[in-house]
Amino acid sequence: EAGRRRQRLLDLNRDAARFYYQMLQQPEGRAVQEYLDRRKIRRATAVNFGLGASLDAWDALILAMTKKGYTKSELLEAGLAVQNRNGGLYDKFRNRLIFPVIDVRGDVVAFGGRVLDKSEPKYMNSQETPVYSKRRVLYGLNLAKKSKRSNIILCEGNIDVVTLHQAGFDNAVASMGTALTVEQTRLLSRFTKELVLCYDNDNAGKIATERALEILNNSEFSVKVLQLPRRRTEDGELVKQDADDFIKLQGKDAFEALLTGSENGIEFRMAQVAGKYDLSSDEARVAYCEEVSALLAALANPVEREIYTTRAAETAKITPEVMRLEVQRAFKRRL
Ligand code: GTP
Ligand code: MN
Ligand code: MN
Ligand code: MN
Ligand code: MN
Repeated sequence: EAGRRRQRLLDLNRDAARFYYQMLQQPEGRAVQEYLDRRKIRRATAVNFGLGASLDAWDALILAMTKKGYTKSELLEAGLAVQNRNGGLYDKFRNRLIFPVIDVRGDVVAFGGRVLDKSEPKYMNSQETPVYSKRRVLYGLNLAKKSKRSNIILCEGNIDVVTLHQAGFDNAVASMGTALTVEQTRLLSRFTKELVLCYDNDNAGKIATERALEILNNSEFSVKVLQLPRRRTEDGELVKQDADDFIKLQGKDAFEALLTGSENGIEFRMAQVAGKYDLSSDEARVAYCEEVSALLAALANPVEREIYTTRAAETAKITPEVMRLEVQRAFKRRL
């Protein structure tokens, strides 16, 4: 019975995805098509991801789905309809670009919807349902699992994934704005042992990178961090970028170069620590050594520990012997 209910929800999601997809091809979907044009997402790319349009109406999807025999309670349970105070239903996704979220089995399990202008919230995502557990799904993995590239690129957003695939990086997936989970790493391990973290280069992205590195620390994955440079505007101001911004401005060859040059996780974390200190002052060098030694002491691989201990010593301008002692002390503090 639970299995039958799940199947009904999956059928409903698939029919809804088809409806949104068809609307994008119709005159009613023109606003969304124009939005895709503005974001430089090509027709073939939109088809590849099954992108769709929810209309500027209160019940377009509800009408189409009830005509197909789905009930109100099924629409509510799937998170496609919302109930108002009088018990009436209205479409959850209205006047948005629709991203169907497809799991590795090929089932449509959820939807993301982006507004076409500056209104808020920018994105709406399906809530958890009997067929959708956010922590177990990665956007784009249904396609990325077929990529010939050896690694998988983890980025933040739906548009980042779509743009990366369009530029030939068909190994990109996104956690849709949430932190990477252990369940997602297990899912990824079925398809690759090499991950590249490519989160936005703002503060939130840095924090997300550190969280992900913690989860992946001492895992079976080899992990690299692709750091997108900040962009300088005409007024000389430095602004944040994500993978989509970068590719639109710099092109795919520039991204490929960043990918090739991406540092491993420990290098990223050491750079973060070094960035906190002005190493021309002695006090700062002492504090840097103390903090970086804690990172180094956590490395399980002795060869890696030796290599990066030497590098940290160079950064702090002390001898490797003293840095090694510092790491040993940090190691004892951990016990
Ligand atoms: P674009 O303008 O579409 O490129 O978005 P962005 O680059 O500003 O997205 P951002 O980096 O802020 O967020 C990354 C991802 O987080 C998005 O793709 C969404 O999946 C999710 N997200 C962003 N904003 C919201 C929001 O307001 N609500 C929810 N639920 N998710 C969001
Ligand atoms: Mn944002
Ligand atoms: Mn972001
Ligand atoms: Mn973006
Ligand atoms: Mn972003």
